[in-house]
Amino acid sequence: MQPFLSSPTFLSQLFPPLLFCSSFLLALFLQWLYHKGKRLPPGSMGWPYLGETHKLYTQNPNTFFSKRLKRYGGIFKTHILGCPCVMISSPEAMRTVLVTQAHLFKPTYPASKEKMIGPEAVFFQQGHYHSMLKKLVQAAFLPSAIKNSVLEVEHIVLKLLPNWANTTINALQEMKRYAFEVAAISAFGEIMEIEMEEIKDMYRCLEKGYNSFPLYVPGTSYWKSLKARKVLNETIRRLIQKRRESKNNGRGLLGVLLQARGHKMYELSDSQIADNLIGVIFAAHDTTASVLTWVLKYLHDNVNLLEAVTEEHERIKTKLAIENRGLTWNDTRQMPLSGRVFQETLRSASILSFTFREAVQDVELEGYSIPKGWKVLPLFRSIHHSADFFPQPETFDPSRFEVPPRPNTYMPFGNGVHSCPGSELAKLEVLLLLHHFTVSYRWQVEGNEDGIQYGPFPVPKHGLPIKISPRKKMVTEVANSTV
Ligand code: HEM
Repeated sequence: MQPFLSSPTFLSQLFPPLLFCSSFLLALFLQWLYHKGKRLPPGSMGWPYLGETHKLYTQNPNTFFSKRLKRYGGIFKTHILGCPCVMISSPEAMRTVLVTQAHLFKPTYPASKEKMIGPEAVFFQQGHYHSMLKKLVQAAFLPSAIKNSVLEVEHIVLKLLPNWANTTINALQEMKRYAFEVAAISAFGEIMEIEMEEIKDMYRCLEKGYNSFPLYVPGTSYWKSLKARKVLNETIRRLIQKRRESKNNGRGLLGVLLQARGHKMYELSDSQIADNLIGVIFAAHDTTASVLTWVLKYLHDNVNLLEAVTEEHERIKTKLAIENRGLTWNDTRQMPLSGRVFQETLRSASILSFTFREAVQDVELEGYSIPKGWKVLPLFRSIHHSADFFPQPETFDPSRFEVPPRPNTYMPFGNGVHSCPGSELAKLEVLLLLHHFTVSYRWQVEGNEDGIQYGPFPVPKHGLPIKISPRKKMVTEVANSTV
């Protein structure tokens, strides 16, 4: 009888793991040989395969970044979500990656998320197709295009406000409701109530699966989410068909995209249009809702500032009453303090802590080598919280924006070719909410739990539950408003 260890059965069982281990070691060795002599940025790659993912996602990202920035400087390497990464936080390196050498760093998203939003959406593109799409999306969100939306956005605010009076609301949920309605009308233009409800339901389902584990098995959130995405495509296709039949392209981004079909180079298929409409709603919704929630938190915590902002809006209200007219775009340009509160909120909350790019070839950056395929993460939050550029960064102080920040140090909307086309719309939403909310209401944060939750953007703990009551006006204000 053959000893077991040398039996053919044992050897054949041993062969696959041996082959796997030796290929793995060979790959590591080849990689080491390839990078030998190249100077990678300093930093730790953490545990094999797991890297430092658990550290980034189990602690405050500020702590993760600042520890490494202190230890290694403005550029360091790490290993997150199964990928080797280089994190950068100097204004010069950020400019190189996002602006001057942007063609060497392509945007990168997990395949599951790309599938859910729509692979032909503007975020995922580069080069010619990207610049063509970007021109169209920008055209729909330029100040000249959204100027005429003041009334519609104001209408949404005025519809929501009475439901909040004398109740406790979850600020984040209500701001999501507001931001969704604005995003939907900006994307689709005028749309029937019934179609809007269908889009809302499907979008809610899509959103649920967005941050779930991407397991395509019936019943999972991911599976339901992809099904909802298909239904959304059908709904959008029907909308396009209706507009085509009525020979009316309509307004909003859909109007711009349909009108552009008349020009050969801007001709988009129905599914390209659908991907970009859904993409814009995705980009506009949670981001703006998080910022609105932070604005309410910061004003609640800074009573004198809240009173000064209220005064700014009281003055405009008095003017509108004297001139017997409604609010216009030009009035929104006369709200400098509220504008600075918006800017400081974006800096302080930095809801997009960082973004992802991928090196398309081996690249030299600040004297270090970044191998092809490595992720590069510009850390917006770190630069916004650097005392070198924003003295006393942890203090909420809108007056710091009385002078413009140093170039490439303030990037709440990104920078370069992929920068955000929705910044003016987001600002308009904040200004219009402040205009009606501050003069008529006061809010008290419920509970005494300070802190941050991520879902997926940072927001105050539990979505900021606030109790809202009508504002008691001072005697002098009442007298002024009756003059
Ligand atoms: C306060 C709210 C918002 C913040 C903080 C924000 C932030 C950003 C940032 C940082 C980027 C660049 C990402 C990168 O470089 O990888 C971006 C891209 C984008 N944002 Fe926003 N955004 C906001 C609101 C909106 C709104 C209202 C819209 C609606 C039009 C929008 C549409 C987009 C689109 C389409 C892109 C992709 C642009 C491209 O890839 O060329 N965003 N946003």
